[in-house]
Amino acid sequence: MKRRTWYLAVSWSLLLWSTAAQAADPSGYGQAGGEFDIKIPRVPAAELPAAKADKPPFAPTPEILAEGKAIFLGRGTCFQCHGSEGKGDGGAAKVLPIQPRNFTNPAFNKVRTPGEMMWVLKNGSMGQSGKVPGTGMLPIVGQFLSEEDGWKVLLYERSLGESR
Ligand code: HEC
Repeated sequence: MKRRTWYLAVSWSLLLWSTAAQAADPSGYGQAGGEFDIKIPRVPAAELPAAKADKPPFAPTPEILAEGKAIFLGRGTCFQCHGSEGKGDGGAAKVLPIQPRNFTNPAFNKVRTPGEMMWVLKNGSMGQSGKVPGTGMLPIVGQFLSEEDGWKVLLYERSLGESR
C-alpha cells in the first residue's frame, strides 16, 4: 500500500471510530429499566483524582444518617426518582432515559467514593454517554441544597448499601 493510501485509511478509520464512540448510547439507554454501569466513573478523568480525595466532613453517626434520610424523603426530593427505599424505582424514574441509582446495591459503594458522589451532586451526572445533560440527575448542591446537607444525604444513601 502506498504511504498516502495507508495514511488515508488510518485517518478514515480513526474518524469513524471516534464519531461512533461519541454518538453511541450505552445499551439500554432510553429504554425503561435501561442499563446503568456503575463501573464507569461519572466524574471526567481530569477531575477524578480531586473528586476521590474529597471527604465527608463528618462520620455517618445515627444522627447524621437520620438527618440525611429526612432530606432524602423531604426537601431533597431524591425519593421521587431514587424511590423511598433508595432502590432506584421512584415514580419519576419511568420517564428518565436511564435508571436512577439503586443505593441498596452493595457493589455501588465499592466502586464509588463519597467524593465522587459529591461531584455528581454539584455537577449532575452525564451518565455513561458523557452527554450534557445525559441523565435526569441534575446539579443539586449549590442549587437547592447546601454542601453540608449534600454530605448528609449521600452518607444516608451509602448506608442503604452497607446495612444488607
Ligand atoms: C429527577 C430524578 C432524580 C432526582 C430528583 C435525584 N436523582 Fe440522583 N440520579 C438520578 C439518575 C437518573 C441517576 C443515574 C445517573 C447515572 O447513571 O449516571 C442518579 C444518580 C445519582 C447518584 C450516583 C451517581 C454515580 O456516581 O453513579 C447520586 C450520588 C445521586 N443520584 C444522588 C441524589 C441525591 C442525593 C438526590 C436528592 C438530593 C437525587 N440524587 C435526586 C435521578 C435523580
